[in-house]
Amino acid sequence: KVHRIALIPGDGIGTEITTAAVRALRQLSATLSTFTLDFTQFPWSSATYLQEGHYMPSDGLAQLKKFDAIYFGAVGWPDVPDHISLWGLILPIRKTLGQYVNVRPVRMLDGVTSPLKGVQRAGDLDWVIVRENSEGEYSGQGGISHEDELHGVATEVSVFTRVGVERVVRFAFEVARGRPRRKLTMVTKSNAQRHGMVFWDKVFWEVAREFPDVETDKMLVDAMTVRMTLDPKSLDTIVATNLHADILSDLAAALAGSIGIAPSSNLNPERTAPSMFEPIHGSAPDIAGKGVANPVGAFWSAAEMVRWLGEDKAADVLMEAVENVTRAGVTTKDLGGKENTEGVTEAVHDIYTMA
Ligand code: NAI
Ligand code: MG
Repeated sequence: KVHRIALIPGDGIGTEITTAAVRALRQLSATLSTFTLDFTQFPWSSATYLQEGHYMPSDGLAQLKKFDAIYFGAVGWPDVPDHISLWGLILPIRKTLGQYVNVRPVRMLDGVTSPLKGVQRAGDLDWVIVRENSEGEYSGQGGISHEDELHGVATEVSVFTRVGVERVVRFAFEVARGRPRRKLTMVTKSNAQRHGMVFWDKVFWEVAREFPDVETDKMLVDAMTVRMTLDPKSLDTIVATNLHADILSDLAAALAGSIGIAPSSNLNPERTAPSMFEPIHGSAPDIAGKGVANPVGAFWSAAEMVRWLGEDKAADVLMEAVENVTRAGVTTKDLGGKENTEGVTEAVHDIYTMA
């Protein structure tokens, strides 16, 4: 079977880790020979923007719709304001292609050390964060007036629709139901934010009635950071808004070892358009160009992509290879190792060739 993949490396380490992932995927399909991946690369980046005034051409989204999946690196570079780069590329893709859930599994990979005491084994920290990915705080509504004057004022309006909240909450319940502990924690800030967050809570409890077999609880986002840090075993599946889940998932990744390992799947659950897979980290200008970025988050995202495409065996084989490598301590500096991107990629490659 041939799967057509749109490849968007983007900026900074996005280009380095996608190169590593494509290599691992090609090796994977060569080893299993049950499917092939046909990559088409799109050079959409901050360099394109500086030259041409846009990240994507005007028919960019239409071009992407023809693919089975999108594999993305990262976007953002210091010479372009970050709100221009995000709104120029990744946010329109997520919103226009109906990728309304962003699934972010976080767990202790073999051999990886957590900064938390008492978190040693896989079961000590094993979460799935389900992020609302189409509206909320990232609706782009609002404006700035009198920017340069004394009375300057700006608004950033969050939009929560019933359809938008209900579909992501229902998705999260399904995820929770599919996991052994059947446990879902809802995160909001419905004490201080008295409209959208109260609405979210209400919709959550309504949907909860359809899932009596799933244990539920509710956290305010500030207290949630404490619980994640001090009582990680008490959590399993988590559902939160676009902004809250964005923040919590960086924290979660760090608690599980490094931001460099965490994957994400921007899913269009109805499959009316392609879904997009990317590590949760950004373009990391501070380490870009040095070849030292951790490719594990990119590998894990690649595994999630092939799983979404129906290649479960391939996903399992890739993750097994990755965990063999982390277990052996062949890791980048962020995980306490001495290897570079190339070294980790080679090590994954060697596992296939030995198999
Ligand atoms: P970042 O995630 O790029 O970096 C944060 C820190 O983590 C840096 O110290 C970086 O070196 C480290 N880090 C990140 N990924 C790593 C990896 N694979 N291996 C080792 N270390 C890693 O976040 P930051 O610095 O806030 O953002 C940089 C740029 O990326 C900005 O332009 C931002 O807007 C953009 N960004 C883009 C995202 C996307 O395309 N989905 C997501 C997050 C940020
Ligand atoms: Mg983020």
